[in-house]
Amino acid sequence: MTIPPELLRRLATAKRIAVLTGAGVSAESGVPTFRDAQTGLWAKYTPEELATPRAFRRNPRLVWEWYAWRRTLVADAKPNPGHLALAQMEKLFPQFDLITQNVDGLHQRAGSTRVIELHGNISRTKCFDEGAIVTSWEDTGDVPPKCPNCGGLLRPDVVWFEEPLPETEMERAATASTNCDVFFSIGTSTIVYPAAALPFEALCAGATVVEINPQPTPLTMLAQFNLPEAAGVALPVLMKALNASRKS
Ligand code: APR
Repeated sequence: MTIPPELLRRLATAKRIAVLTGAGVSAESGVPTFRDAQTGLWAKYTPEELATPRAFRRNPRLVWEWYAWRRTLVADAKPNPGHLALAQMEKLFPQFDLITQNVDGLHQRAGSTRVIELHGNISRTKCFDEGAIVTSWEDTGDVPPKCPNCGGLLRPDVVWFEEPLPETEMERAATASTNCDVFFSIGTSTIVYPAAALPFEALCAGATVVEINPQPTPLTMLAQFNLPEAAGVALPVLMKALNASRKS
């Protein structure tokens, strides 16, 4: 694949970059995406069964165990060439904000330092009743375990459907998106709001919008550039082209 020369020209003068990533970026690390046919986790379960406060109230054990399984998957996963290329790209620009919907922490493990986690982080646990982060608890065999402070049920610190996004992170993401020169939307189906609004807000604010996704999304027709490839393929090629254009 080749990177469009016009995109490289725009990146050569760009000062502020914003990147939005979704589950597709981690697919090549072996973390299943949510909506892809066959391999998608939502193909086996519905979001309502697993990722809503109502689902947790109805069957806390199922939800806790599903997240425990995902946590093991994430712990065993390694950042892939896409994550690593994004960590390198951060060093090339004065402002580089990486907004992620992923809860797997793989961007940070790849070396990215300015990561805005919109949907929380699966490695953290909080109290379902009080919302306070809990770092240790007694293993009494209860599933889910109980909060050591109030006895309520513990849950992962991720944003479920029907829940608001963390305010500070959402504000930072909106500011980064509307103030950037180039916005990358990578590995996201662009259908889960409010995160899905960010590329459109960037477009309206005059940014150049680039999509990297092997499948079309609601953004594809509007983005100025499309790289219809896997992130782990496209991003290293982009990084190489950026380095080459800076040397010449
Ligand atoms: N490289 C780039 N994109 C890929 C790759 C890959 N290797 N593999 C799959 N994709 C694309 C798919 O084509 C799809 O458009 O990644 C996208 C994954 O979409 P979703 O599974 O819907 O994931 P995401 O957009 O992150 O979902 C948003 O929904 O379920 C909630 O909270 C969850 O954060 C998640 C949110």
